[in-house]
Amino acid sequence: MSDFYTGSPLDPEDMWFRDDFINLLWEILRTEHVLLTAPRRTGKTSVMDFMAAKPQEGYSAISVFVQDLDHPSEFLLTLLDAFQAKHPVLFRKIFKSGSSWIGSTLDRIEEVGFAGFKIALREQKSKGSDDWKLLGDHEFFEVVRRSKQKLLFIVDEFPDLILNMKRNHPELVRPFLAWFRSHCVSPHPKHDTIRWLLGGSVNLSSTLDAMGSIDLINSLHDERLPVLTSSQVQEFVSRMLSDRNVDFHSGIPSEVANRLGRPVPLFLQMVTQDLYRIWKRVQRPLEIEDVHTAFSELIVSSAARDKLQHYYSRINQYYDEPKRSAAYALLAKLSQSNHGVPRKALEQEFDRLIQSQGDNLPDHERRRLFNQLLRDLENDFYVAETSNDQFDFASGLLKAWWKKYYA
Ligand SMILES: Nc1ncnc2c1ncn2[C@@H]1O[C@H](COP(=O)(O)OP(=O)(O)O)[C@@H](O)[C@H]1O
Ligand SMILES: [Mg+2]
Repeated sequence: MSDFYTGSPLDPEDMWFRDDFINLLWEILRTEHVLLTAPRRTGKTSVMDFMAAKPQEGYSAISVFVQDLDHPSEFLLTLLDAFQAKHPVLFRKIFKSGSSWIGSTLDRIEEVGFAGFKIALREQKSKGSDDWKLLGDHEFFEVVRRSKQKLLFIVDEFPDLILNMKRNHPELVRPFLAWFRSHCVSPHPKHDTIRWLLGGSVNLSSTLDAMGSIDLINSLHDERLPVLTSSQVQEFVSRMLSDRNVDFHSGIPSEVANRLGRPVPLFLQMVTQDLYRIWKRVQRPLEIEDVHTAFSELIVSSAARDKLQHYYSRINQYYDEPKRSAAYALLAKLSQSNHGVPRKALEQEFDRLIQSQGDNLPDHERRRLFNQLLRDLENDFYVAETSNDQFDFASGLLKAWWKKYYA
Protein backbone atom coordinates (compact mmCIF):
# COMPACT_ATOMS: atom_id res chain seq x y z
CA MET A 1 0.00 0.00 0.00
CA SER A 2 1.28 3.45 -0.95
CA ASP A 3 1.77 6.03 1.78
CA PHE A 4 0.55 9.59 1.59
CA TYR A 5 3.18 12.26 0.91
CA THR A 6 2.49 15.89 1.40
CA GLY A 7 5.73 17.53 0.46
CA SER A 8 8.54 15.23 1.56
CA PRO A 9 10.54 13.36 -1.09
CA LEU A 10 8.84 10.19 -2.28
CA ASP A 11 10.17 6.77 -1.54
CA PRO A 12 10.75 5.31 -5.03
CA GLU A 13 8.25 2.55 -4.23
CA ASP A 14 5.49 5.07 -3.67
CA MET A 15 5.84 6.93 -6.94
CA TRP A 16 2.84 6.73 -9.23
CA PHE A 17 2.51 6.84 -13.01
CA ARG A 18 6.11 7.69 -13.92
CA ASP A 19 7.60 4.40 -15.15
CA ASP A 20 7.11 5.09 -18.85
CA PHE A 21 8.36 8.63 -18.55
CA ILE A 22 11.50 7.54 -16.71
CA ASN A 23 12.23 4.97 -19.40
CA LEU A 24 11.75 7.69 -21.99
CA LEU A 25 14.29 9.91 -20.19
CA TRP A 26 16.88 7.12 -20.16
CA GLU A 27 16.24 6.63 -23.84
CA ILE A 28 16.82 10.32 -24.58
CA LEU A 29 19.92 10.36 -22.39
CA ARG A 30 21.57 7.86 -24.71
CA THR A 31 22.30 10.66 -27.13
CA GLU A 32 21.42 13.93 -25.40
CA HIS A 33 21.61 16.00 -22.25
CA VAL A 34 18.23 16.81 -20.78
CA LEU A 35 16.57 19.84 -19.23
CA LEU A 36 13.51 18.56 -17.34
CA THR A 37 11.05 21.33 -16.68
CA ALA A 38 7.80 21.48 -14.77
CA PRO A 39 6.30 23.76 -12.17
CA ARG A 40 7.08 23.28 -8.52
CA ARG A 41 5.35 20.44 -6.61
CA THR A 42 4.59 18.45 -9.70
CA GLY A 43 7.14 15.70 -9.20
CA LYS A 44 10.48 16.56 -10.84
CA THR A 45 12.64 15.86 -7.81
CA SER A 46 10.80 12.59 -7.24
CA VAL A 47 11.57 11.48 -10.78
CA MET A 48 15.21 12.54 -10.55
CA ASP A 49 15.66 10.88 -7.14
CA PHE A 50 14.25 7.70 -8.60
CA MET A 51 16.72 7.81 -11.46
CA ALA A 52 19.58 8.46 -9.06
CA ALA A 53 18.51 5.52 -6.89
CA LYS A 54 18.08 3.12 -9.82
CA PRO A 55 20.38 4.17 -12.62
CA GLN A 56 20.24 2.32 -15.92
CA GLU A 57 22.68 1.80 -18.78
CA GLY A 58 25.68 1.37 -16.48
CA TYR A 59 25.60 4.90 -15.12
CA SER A 60 26.57 6.03 -11.65
CA ALA A 61 24.48 9.02 -10.63
CA ILE A 62 25.44 12.10 -8.64
CA SER A 63 22.75 14.54 -7.54
CA VAL A 64 23.11 18.14 -6.46
CA PHE A 65 20.63 20.80 -5.47
CA VAL A 66 21.72 24.24 -6.65
CA GLN A 67 18.77 26.48 -5.86
CA ASP A 68 20.82 28.70 -3.55
CA LEU A 69 24.09 28.85 -5.50
CA ASP A 70 25.12 31.82 -7.61
CA HIS A 71 28.69 31.22 -8.81
CA PRO A 72 30.37 28.74 -11.20
CA SER A 73 33.03 27.86 -8.62
CA GLU A 74 30.43 26.99 -6.02
CA PHE A 75 28.64 24.89 -8.61
CA LEU A 76 31.80 22.93 -9.35
CA LEU A 77 32.72 22.50 -5.70
CA THR A 78 29.20 21.28 -4.98
CA LEU A 79 29.45 18.71 -7.79
CA LEU A 80 32.80 17.46 -6.53
CA ASP A 81 31.60 17.31 -2.96
CA ALA A 82 28.45 15.36 -3.90
CA PHE A 83 30.50 13.00 -6.05
CA GLN A 84 32.89 12.35 -3.21
CA ALA A 85 30.08 11.78 -0.70
CA LYS A 86 28.05 9.45 -2.95
CA HIS A 87 30.84 7.34 -4.45
CA PRO A 88 33.91 7.77 -2.19
CA VAL A 89 35.80 4.77 -3.57
CA LEU A 90 35.20 5.66 -7.21
CA PHE A 91 35.96 9.29 -6.52
CA ARG A 92 39.28 8.45 -4.91
CA LYS A 93 40.16 6.16 -7.78
CA ILE A 94 39.42 8.82 -10.37
CA PHE A 95 40.85 11.87 -8.65
CA LYS A 96 43.72 10.57 -6.56
CA SER A 97 46.16 10.41 -9.41
CA GLY A 98 44.16 12.41 -11.94
CA SER A 99 44.23 15.72 -10.19
CA SER A 100 47.05 16.99 -8.05
CA TRP A 101 44.82 19.67 -6.65
CA ILE A 102 42.04 17.36 -5.50
CA GLY A 103 44.52 14.58 -4.80
CA SER A 104 46.21 16.67 -2.14
CA THR A 105 42.85 17.50 -0.59
CA LEU A 106 42.07 13.79 -0.54
CA ASP A 107 45.29 13.24 1.40
CA ARG A 108 43.86 15.43 4.12
CA ILE A 109 40.54 13.65 4.26
CA GLU A 110 41.44 11.60 7.37
CA GLU A 111 42.21 14.85 9.08
CA VAL A 112 39.18 16.88 7.91
CA GLY A 113 36.64 14.03 7.69
CA PHE A 114 34.23 13.56 4.82
CA ALA A 115 31.97 16.34 5.98
CA GLY A 116 34.89 18.75 5.76
CA PHE A 117 35.75 17.85 2.20
CA LYS A 118 34.07 20.82 0.56
CA ILE A 119 35.61 23.22 3.05
CA ALA A 120 39.04 21.71 2.43
CA LEU A 121 38.49 22.00 -1.31
CA ARG A 122 37.55 25.62 -0.92
CA GLU A 123 40.68 26.35 1.15
CA GLN A 124 42.82 24.56 -1.38
CA LYS A 125 41.20 26.56 -4.14
CA SER A 126 41.86 29.91 -2.53
CA LYS A 127 45.55 29.04 -2.34
CA GLY A 128 45.75 28.45 -6.05
CA SER A 129 44.15 29.94 -9.08
CA ASP A 130 40.73 31.39 -8.65
CA ASP A 131 39.69 30.73 -12.22
CA TRP A 132 36.57 28.58 -12.28
CA LYS A 133 37.13 27.73 -15.92
CA LEU A 134 40.53 26.19 -15.23
CA LEU A 135 39.07 24.34 -12.29
CA GLY A 136 36.19 23.09 -14.43
CA ASP A 137 38.27 22.09 -17.43
CA HIS A 138 41.29 20.52 -15.79
CA GLU A 139 40.13 19.37 -12.40
CA PHE A 140 36.69 18.26 -13.40
CA PHE A 141 35.88 17.45 -17.02
CA GLU A 142 39.32 16.22 -18.07
CA VAL A 143 39.79 13.98 -15.07
CA VAL A 144 36.28 12.60 -15.10
CA ARG A 145 36.35 11.87 -18.81
CA ARG A 146 39.72 10.16 -18.63
CA SER A 147 38.25 7.65 -16.18
CA LYS A 148 35.83 6.26 -18.79
CA GLN A 149 33.25 5.76 -16.03
CA LYS A 150 29.69 6.57 -17.16
CA LEU A 151 28.39 9.32 -14.92
CA LEU A 152 25.00 10.99 -14.78
CA PHE A 153 25.04 14.37 -13.05
CA ILE A 154 21.59 15.36 -11.85
CA VAL A 155 21.27 19.06 -11.11
CA ASP A 156 18.04 20.07 -9.42
CA GLU A 157 16.79 23.65 -9.88
CA PHE A 158 19.49 24.55 -12.40
CA PRO A 159 17.61 27.66 -13.67
CA ASP A 160 17.77 29.12 -10.18
CA LEU A 161 21.56 28.94 -10.29
CA ILE A 162 21.46 31.01 -13.47
CA LEU A 163 18.94 33.50 -12.10
CA ASN A 164 20.96 33.94 -8.89
CA MET A 165 24.08 34.40 -10.99
CA LYS A 166 22.30 36.99 -13.07
CA ARG A 167 21.41 38.87 -9.90
CA ASN A 168 24.76 38.61 -8.08
CA HIS A 169 27.38 38.12 -10.82
CA PRO A 170 25.67 39.23 -14.04
CA GLU A 171 28.94 39.31 -15.97
CA LEU A 172 29.36 35.55 -15.45
CA VAL A 173 26.08 34.33 -16.91
CA ARG A 174 27.09 34.33 -20.56
CA PRO A 175 30.63 33.03 -20.04
CA PHE A 176 29.40 30.27 -17.74
CA LEU A 177 26.60 29.13 -20.04
CA ALA A 178 28.84 29.33 -23.09
CA TRP A 179 31.47 27.26 -21.32
CA PHE A 180 28.91 24.73 -20.11
CA ARG A 181 27.45 24.53 -23.59
CA SER A 182 30.84 23.84 -25.10
CA HIS A 183 31.19 20.80 -22.83
CA CYS A 184 27.70 19.64 -23.81
CA VAL A 185 28.38 19.64 -27.54
CA SER A 186 32.00 18.54 -27.61
CA PRO A 187 32.44 15.67 -27.43
CA HIS A 188 29.04 14.81 -28.81
CA PRO A 189 27.04 13.21 -25.97
CA LYS A 190 26.97 9.95 -27.85
CA HIS A 191 30.72 9.73 -27.42
CA ASP A 192 30.85 11.27 -23.96
CA THR A 193 30.82 9.36 -20.67
CA ILE A 194 29.13 12.28 -18.88
CA ARG A 195 25.44 13.12 -19.04
CA TRP A 196 23.58 16.05 -17.56
CA LEU A 197 20.03 15.86 -16.34
CA LEU A 198 19.04 19.35 -15.29
CA GLY A 199 15.77 20.00 -13.51
CA GLY A 200 14.00 23.32 -13.27
CA SER A 201 10.80 24.92 -12.03
CA VAL A 202 11.32 28.27 -13.62
CA ASN A 203 11.28 28.88 -17.24
CA LEU A 204 14.79 29.85 -18.32
CA SER A 205 13.89 30.66 -21.90
CA SER A 206 12.01 33.83 -21.03
CA THR A 207 14.98 35.14 -19.04
CA LEU A 208 17.62 34.13 -21.56
CA ASP A 209 15.48 35.45 -24.38
CA ALA A 210 15.47 38.85 -22.73
CA MET A 211 19.28 38.68 -22.49
CA GLY A 212 19.59 37.64 -26.14
CA SER A 213 21.19 34.41 -24.95
CA ILE A 214 18.64 31.76 -25.79
CA ASP A 215 21.18 29.98 -28.00
CA LEU A 216 23.15 29.03 -24.89
CA ILE A 217 20.74 26.31 -23.82
CA ASN A 218 19.82 24.95 -27.22
CA SER A 219 22.23 22.06 -26.77
CA LEU A 220 19.91 20.62 -24.14
CA HIS A 221 16.92 18.45 -24.92
CA ASP A 222 13.94 20.21 -23.38
CA GLU A 223 11.51 17.73 -21.88
CA ARG A 224 8.41 18.56 -19.87
CA LEU A 225 7.22 16.36 -17.06
CA PRO A 226 3.83 15.01 -18.21
CA VAL A 227 0.73 16.32 -16.48
CA LEU A 228 -1.32 13.61 -14.77
CA THR A 229 -4.45 12.73 -16.73
CA SER A 230 -7.93 12.78 -15.28
CA SER A 231 -8.09 8.98 -15.30
CA GLN A 232 -4.77 8.77 -13.43
CA VAL A 233 -6.12 11.17 -10.82
CA GLN A 234 -9.21 9.01 -10.45
CA GLU A 235 -7.16 5.84 -10.21
CA PHE A 236 -5.03 7.40 -7.49
CA VAL A 237 -8.05 8.42 -5.42
CA SER A 238 -9.80 5.05 -5.86
CA ARG A 239 -6.79 2.99 -4.95
CA MET A 240 -5.63 5.10 -2.03
CA LEU A 241 -9.13 4.94 -0.50
CA SER A 242 -9.87 1.29 -1.35
CA ASP A 243 -6.51 0.14 0.01
CA ARG A 244 -7.56 1.68 3.32
CA ASN A 245 -10.98 0.02 3.23
CA VAL A 246 -12.76 3.35 2.88
CA ASP A 247 -16.37 3.05 1.74
CA PHE A 248 -16.99 5.84 -0.80
CA HIS A 249 -19.58 7.03 -3.33
CA SER A 250 -18.50 5.94 -6.82
CA GLY A 251 -18.62 9.54 -8.09
CA ILE A 252 -15.93 10.74 -5.69
CA PRO A 253 -12.80 10.11 -7.80
CA SER A 254 -14.19 12.05 -10.77
CA GLU A 255 -15.38 14.85 -8.49
CA VAL A 256 -11.84 15.19 -7.11
CA ALA A 257 -10.51 15.30 -10.68
CA ASN A 258 -13.01 18.06 -11.56
CA ARG A 259 -12.24 20.16 -8.54
CA LEU A 260 -8.46 19.83 -8.95
CA GLY A 261 -8.48 20.96 -12.55
CA ARG A 262 -5.04 20.47 -14.03
CA PRO A 263 -3.68 18.37 -11.20
CA VAL A 264 -0.69 19.32 -9.10
CA PRO A 265 0.35 15.93 -7.63
CA LEU A 266 1.04 17.47 -4.25
CA PHE A 267 -2.51 18.83 -4.02
CA LEU A 268 -3.89 15.49 -5.17
CA GLN A 269 -2.08 13.81 -2.29
CA MET A 270 -3.31 16.39 0.20
CA VAL A 271 -6.96 16.24 -0.83
CA THR A 272 -7.03 12.44 -0.87
CA GLN A 273 -5.39 12.27 2.52
CA ASP A 274 -7.96 14.72 3.83
CA LEU A 275 -10.82 12.59 2.45
CA TYR A 276 -9.37 9.64 4.32
CA ARG A 277 -9.24 11.67 7.52
CA ILE A 278 -12.81 12.85 7.06
CA TRP A 279 -13.90 9.23 6.63
CA LYS A 280 -12.23 8.25 9.91
CA ARG A 281 -13.87 11.19 11.63
CA VAL A 282 -17.45 10.83 10.38
CA GLN A 283 -17.59 7.01 10.44
CA ARG A 284 -19.96 6.59 7.49
CA PRO A 285 -19.43 6.08 3.74
CA LEU A 286 -17.95 9.17 2.01
CA GLU A 287 -20.35 11.28 -0.05
CA ILE A 288 -19.76 13.79 -2.83
CA GLU A 289 -20.33 16.59 -0.36
CA ASP A 290 -17.25 15.42 1.54
CA VAL A 291 -15.08 16.32 -1.46
CA HIS A 292 -16.24 19.94 -1.14
CA THR A 293 -15.51 19.83 2.58
CA ALA A 294 -12.01 18.48 1.89
CA PHE A 295 -11.26 21.32 -0.52
CA SER A 296 -12.59 23.97 1.86
CA GLU A 297 -10.57 22.51 4.72
CA LEU A 298 -7.48 22.38 2.61
CA ILE A 299 -7.42 26.01 1.55
CA VAL A 300 -7.50 27.17 5.17
CA SER A 301 -5.13 24.52 6.50
CA SER A 302 -1.63 25.42 7.62
CA ALA A 303 -0.27 22.43 5.67
CA ALA A 304 -1.41 23.95 2.39
CA ARG A 305 -0.78 27.57 3.26
CA ASP A 306 2.99 27.65 2.70
CA LYS A 307 2.74 25.70 -0.51
CA LEU A 308 -0.02 27.86 -1.95
CA GLN A 309 1.60 31.02 -0.67
CA HIS A 310 4.66 30.11 -2.67
CA TYR A 311 2.68 30.37 -5.90
CA TYR A 312 1.73 33.88 -4.89
CA SER A 313 5.19 35.04 -3.82
CA ARG A 314 7.14 33.55 -6.69
CA ILE A 315 5.55 36.11 -9.03
CA ASN A 316 7.25 38.78 -6.97
CA GLN A 317 10.51 36.95 -7.35
CA TYR A 318 10.49 35.95 -10.99
CA TYR A 319 8.26 38.40 -12.88
CA ASP A 320 9.62 41.85 -13.68
CA GLU A 321 7.42 44.94 -13.81
CA PRO A 322 5.08 45.68 -15.48
CA LYS A 323 4.34 41.97 -15.85
CA ARG A 324 4.36 41.53 -12.09
CA SER A 325 1.45 43.86 -11.27
CA ALA A 326 -0.37 42.71 -14.37
CA ALA A 327 -0.03 39.06 -13.35
CA TYR A 328 -1.55 39.80 -9.94
CA ALA A 329 -4.39 41.78 -11.51
CA LEU A 330 -5.25 39.13 -14.08
CA LEU A 331 -5.11 36.31 -11.56
CA ALA A 332 -7.36 38.23 -9.16
CA LYS A 333 -9.86 38.69 -11.98
CA LEU A 334 -9.71 35.04 -13.00
CA SER A 335 -10.15 33.83 -9.42
CA GLN A 336 -13.49 35.64 -9.23
CA SER A 337 -14.84 34.18 -12.44
CA ASN A 338 -17.04 31.09 -12.49
CA HIS A 339 -15.68 29.44 -15.60
CA GLY A 340 -12.80 31.61 -16.70
CA VAL A 341 -12.42 34.80 -18.74
CA PRO A 342 -12.07 35.31 -22.52
CA ARG A 343 -8.64 36.25 -23.76
CA LYS A 344 -9.98 39.54 -25.13
CA ALA A 345 -11.24 40.61 -21.69
CA LEU A 346 -7.91 39.75 -20.12
CA GLU A 347 -6.11 41.82 -22.71
CA GLN A 348 -8.39 44.81 -22.05
CA GLU A 349 -7.70 44.52 -18.33
CA PHE A 350 -3.99 44.37 -19.11
CA ASP A 351 -4.14 47.49 -21.32
CA ARG A 352 -6.08 49.38 -18.69
CA LEU A 353 -3.48 48.51 -16.07
CA ILE A 354 -0.53 49.49 -18.24
CA GLN A 355 -2.15 52.84 -19.04
CA SER A 356 -3.01 53.54 -15.42
CA GLN A 357 0.69 53.10 -14.62
CA GLY A 358 1.44 55.84 -17.09
CA ASP A 359 3.32 53.53 -19.43
CA ASN A 360 2.85 54.82 -22.95
CA LEU A 361 3.87 51.68 -24.76
CA PRO A 362 3.14 51.45 -28.47
CA ASP A 363 0.32 49.02 -29.32
CA HIS A 364 2.48 46.28 -30.76
CA GLU A 365 4.78 46.37 -27.76
CA ARG A 366 1.84 46.16 -25.36
CA ARG A 367 0.42 43.22 -27.25
CA ARG A 368 3.78 41.47 -27.23
CA LEU A 369 4.07 41.92 -23.45
CA PHE A 370 0.55 40.64 -22.93
CA ASN A 371 1.15 37.52 -25.03
CA GLN A 372 4.39 36.88 -23.24
CA LEU A 373 2.74 37.26 -19.84
CA LEU A 374 -0.05 34.86 -20.73
CA ARG A 375 2.49 32.36 -21.99
CA ASP A 376 4.55 32.66 -18.80
CA LEU A 377 1.45 32.18 -16.67
CA GLU A 378 0.60 29.09 -18.70
CA ASN A 379 4.12 27.68 -18.50
CA ASP A 380 4.24 28.29 -14.78
CA PHE A 381 0.95 26.44 -14.29
CA TYR A 382 -1.14 29.37 -13.14
CA VAL A 383 -3.58 29.41 -16.03
CA ALA A 384 -4.76 27.11 -18.78
CA GLU A 385 -6.79 27.62 -21.91
CA THR A 386 -10.08 25.87 -21.09
CA SER A 387 -11.93 26.26 -24.37
CA ASN A 388 -11.27 28.35 -27.44
CA ASP A 389 -9.77 31.62 -26.27
CA GLN A 390 -11.15 31.21 -22.77
CA PHE A 391 -8.66 31.11 -19.87
CA ASP A 392 -9.02 29.96 -16.28
CA PHE A 393 -6.85 29.00 -13.32
CA ALA A 394 -5.14 25.71 -14.12
CA SER A 395 -5.57 24.42 -10.58
CA GLY A 396 -9.00 24.54 -8.95
CA LEU A 397 -7.42 24.49 -5.52
CA LEU A 398 -5.18 27.44 -6.26
CA LYS A 399 -8.14 29.32 -7.70
CA ALA A 400 -10.26 28.85 -4.57
CA TRP A 401 -7.35 29.88 -2.38
CA TRP A 402 -6.52 32.92 -4.50
CA LYS A 403 -10.11 34.09 -4.40
CA LYS A 404 -10.25 33.76 -0.63
CA TYR A 405 -7.04 35.65 0.12
CA TYR A 406 -6.09 37.83 -2.82
CA ALA A 407 -9.11 38.81 -4.90
N1 LIG B 1 4.62 10.39 -9.11
C1 LIG B 1 4.05 10.83 -7.98
N2 LIG B 1 3.19 10.03 -7.30
C2 LIG B 1 2.60 10.47 -6.18
N3 LIG B 1 2.82 11.68 -5.63
C3 LIG B 1 3.65 12.53 -6.24
C4 LIG B 1 4.33 12.14 -7.45
N4 LIG B 1 5.09 13.16 -7.84
C5 LIG B 1 4.93 14.14 -6.93
N5 LIG B 1 4.08 13.77 -5.95
C6 LIG B 1 3.63 14.62 -4.81
O1 LIG B 1 4.13 15.93 -5.02
C7 LIG B 1 5.04 16.32 -3.97
C8 LIG B 1 6.17 17.12 -4.56
O2 LIG B 1 6.96 16.34 -5.43
P1 LIG B 1 8.42 16.81 -5.89
O3 LIG B 1 9.03 15.68 -6.62
O4 LIG B 1 9.15 17.37 -4.72
O5 LIG B 1 8.04 17.99 -6.92
P2 LIG B 1 8.96 19.12 -7.55
O6 LIG B 1 10.38 18.69 -7.47
O7 LIG B 1 8.46 19.25 -8.95
O8 LIG B 1 8.70 20.37 -6.75
C9 LIG B 1 5.46 15.00 -3.32
O9 LIG B 1 5.79 15.17 -1.95
C10 LIG B 1 4.19 14.18 -3.46
O10 LIG B 1 3.25 14.59 -2.49
MG1 LIG C 1 11.93 19.75 -6.59
